Amino acid sequence: MSARIEAMSYGFHISLAPVHAYAYTWVFVNFISIGHTMTTNLIDGEARQRLDTFVSQTHDEHSRFIGFPAALDFDYHELQSVNHLFLNNVGDPHESSWHGIHTKEFEREVVNFCAKLFRAPQNSYWGYVTNGSTECNLYALYIARQKLPNTPVYYSAAAHYGIAKNIHILGIQGHEVRTQRSGEMDYQHLQQLLAQQASTSAIVVATIGTTMTEAKDNVATIKAALLAAGIREHFIHADAALAGIYTALLSPHHPFDFEDGADSINVSGHKFFGSPMPSGVIVTKKEDKERLGGAFNYTGSRDTTITGSRNGHTPLYLWYTIQRYGIEGFRHRAEQAQKVAAYAHQELDKIGWDVWRNSQALTIMLKSPPLELITKWQLATHQGWSHIICMPGISRDKIDSFVADLAAVQA
Ligand SMILES: Cc1ncc(COP(=O)(O)O)c(C=O)c1O
Repeated sequence: MSARIEAMSYGFHISLAPVHAYAYTWVFVNFISIGHTMTTNLIDGEARQRLDTFVSQTHDEHSRFIGFPAALDFDYHELQSVNHLFLNNVGDPHESSWHGIHTKEFEREVVNFCAKLFRAPQNSYWGYVTNGSTECNLYALYIARQKLPNTPVYYSAAAHYGIAKNIHILGIQGHEVRTQRSGEMDYQHLQQLLAQQASTSAIVVATIGTTMTEAKDNVATIKAALLAAGIREHFIHADAALAGIYTALLSPHHPFDFEDGADSINVSGHKFFGSPMPSGVIVTKKEDKERLGGAFNYTGSRDTTITGSRNGHTPLYLWYTIQRYGIEGFRHRAEQAQKVAAYAHQELDKIGWDVWRNSQALTIMLKSPPLELITKWQLATHQGWSHIICMPGISRDKIDSFVADLAAVQA
């Protein structure tokens, strides 16, 4: 016996075969609670048409989305019912509040997962799920400033553009450090800058996977440079928005985590994890976060995050992905993505296109093709160079189509 409910207008199918008593109950309950949305369109006419066109056009764009680092191999159909819930994680994720409709329990598990992966000090870390990595970086620089007031921040010229903005918001003095050709920080220049400063303390932002070339700064080398310059009071933030998860899982180990000298680390949720909406995870040392205090307010929880109301859905999406893959699943995904990146590099090389790739990177740097192809494949482009990023979900077939397009303009 089988039951099948089709909700085409809602954009998903639920197939149940064979059906158990439990499944019947599930369908019944959900059909009752969200039934009207499954069977009835609440908008029609031109508005309905616009929505349908937008969805179909965006699906089409998804199929050529290889220039920005979002893993699109996700499947969250089991979370559909969550979209019918109001959720707000306002306040500290580690404290309950009067506001009872939240996913803080899941949020804490996401933070715990990242903290373990990044070798944070056991039982003395803290963190939360943010709106994205810019918010993570703002939070990290905020706690760094509270720990080391009047201390300059050093960040590489290849750091994300949001770092300079965050420094400006916080009113901290910033110094840009030159990069090597790969995009990795030039540590000699860092040392020169440190030597020129009167300050005996320093904050450094290391980028673990720069936006353009996916270069990874070395936190252990940065720490050694600080100590060599006699700067004992320092704070190193590792902005691992792009590559944090897979860098922690791949061999040989790249020094970037807490045991290597980082004081805080962030990663994006919508990049390698693969969540359909932007999000980020920041992990800090508990003692650094406690310095902020954060007042109790009418919500019954302390205000220890950047925003007030916080997205309650994103922690569930990240938690779900962690349950789905686990450490070994993520490692496998990373290895597969690396193989696709190696394949893309090889195929572009074969047609004689100017191309290069940093070690272990999913990013392939290529001489920019004509504008029509930059637009078609949505390629991030800067100073004559573009890149593709072989995030999970990008198949060899897609690479073949891209290479064929490039070969055609070359002919
Ligand atoms: C290294 C790095 N840091 C920060 C960010 C900013 O992240 P978001 O766009 O989530 O704010 C990005 C985004 O691409 C990034 O690659």
